[in-house]
Amino acid sequence: MTSTQDGSVVIFGSGLIGRSWAMLFASGGFKVKLYDIEQQQITNALENIRKEMKTLEQNGILKGSLSADQQLALISGCTDIKVAVEGAIYIQECTPENLDLKKKVFSQLDLIVDDKVILSSSSSCLLPSKMFVGLKHVKQCIVAHPVNPPYYVPLVELVPHPETDPSTMERTYAIMKKIGQSPVKIKKEIDGFILNRLQYAIISEAWRLVDEGLVSPSDLDIVMSDGLGMRYAFIGPLETMHLNAEGMLDYCNRYSEGMKRVLKTFGPIPDFSGAGLEKVHQEMCARIPVDPAHLAARRQWRDECLMKLAKLKSQMQAE
Ligand SMILES: NC(=O)c1ccc[n+]([C@@H]2O[C@H](COP(=O)([O-])OP(=O)(O)OC[C@H]3O[C@@H](n4cnc5c(N)ncnc54)[C@H](O)[C@@H]3O)[C@@H](O)[C@H]2O)c1
Repeated sequence: MTSTQDGSVVIFGSGLIGRSWAMLFASGGFKVKLYDIEQQQITNALENIRKEMKTLEQNGILKGSLSADQQLALISGCTDIKVAVEGAIYIQECTPENLDLKKKVFSQLDLIVDDKVILSSSSSCLLPSKMFVGLKHVKQCIVAHPVNPPYYVPLVELVPHPETDPSTMERTYAIMKKIGQSPVKIKKEIDGFILNRLQYAIISEAWRLVDEGLVSPSDLDIVMSDGLGMRYAFIGPLETMHLNAEGMLDYCNRYSEGMKRVLKTFGPIPDFSGAGLEKVHQEMCARIPVDPAHLAARRQWRDECLMKLAKLKSQMQAE
């Protein structure tokens, strides 16, 4: 049974990602203060979280062992930054992806936090060395980059600043585990971190193949969703290599020449614009019209699939 945890967690920014983090921390039994500069954002977030938790509970897929009401009682809104950070052991910043704004936010926090709290950013691609530059509490700073939607996709990339204390990494890792996420420790910051570097490599080749007329956009997506993606949901590319032959050495013996030959044929970075973009856009709109109702319905279907997959994965891992 999840019990409530000591110390509160602050979610700094109550938009799309902040809401999801709030639900995750509450599911792990943490007291959560949802901070924002806009009272309306907090009001909307609390209402949205309440509805979502109730639906998840009705469908038997609410995370954690506390009931929806118990989890909801752990979350409160706050527009006073000093009150928000009082007694906090962990602050997860979720403001818009803008370097100047994030630098300002962390400078504000730097002035009022103690020497123990972890200052963590949800940033998707801003480098810790740029965001946390000059902060007195830099040793306590880290990026904890979630994947959208964080409630359903457990990966969190932990990216240190060169001056981040190793204990900040370890404590953040332990907190992520406590809320049921799957953290990975990036040893040194790099543009795009790891997930987006892999994602952009795939997007780039997918775009070139469609742009050169080798495959339709729908068939390209099927290659991933009914092919590569099926096993990548359970094992990564390196384990795939190891299992697809008699181990990694055998795989490289058999396939490295072919891989290098094909890799040499990869083209330049696409522009993602012009006629190529128009063609993909048209086909995507025919599949999923760009209006709020269609997009919301498809996202909901995706999230339900992800939740079921997460359940299946934990059952398979327990066997
Ligand atoms: N959306 C995604 O797919 C995704 C995935 C992973 C990481 N992220 C990262 O998460 C962060 C938040 O993204 P989002 O999509 O939730 O943004 P969002 O625009 O939905 O929410 C941002 C929130 O921050 C609030 N805010 C703005 N200025 C503030 C300030 N000075 N102090 C406190 N609150 C402030 C806004 O009122 C809003 O509620 C970004 O860094 C983004 O890159 C996003």
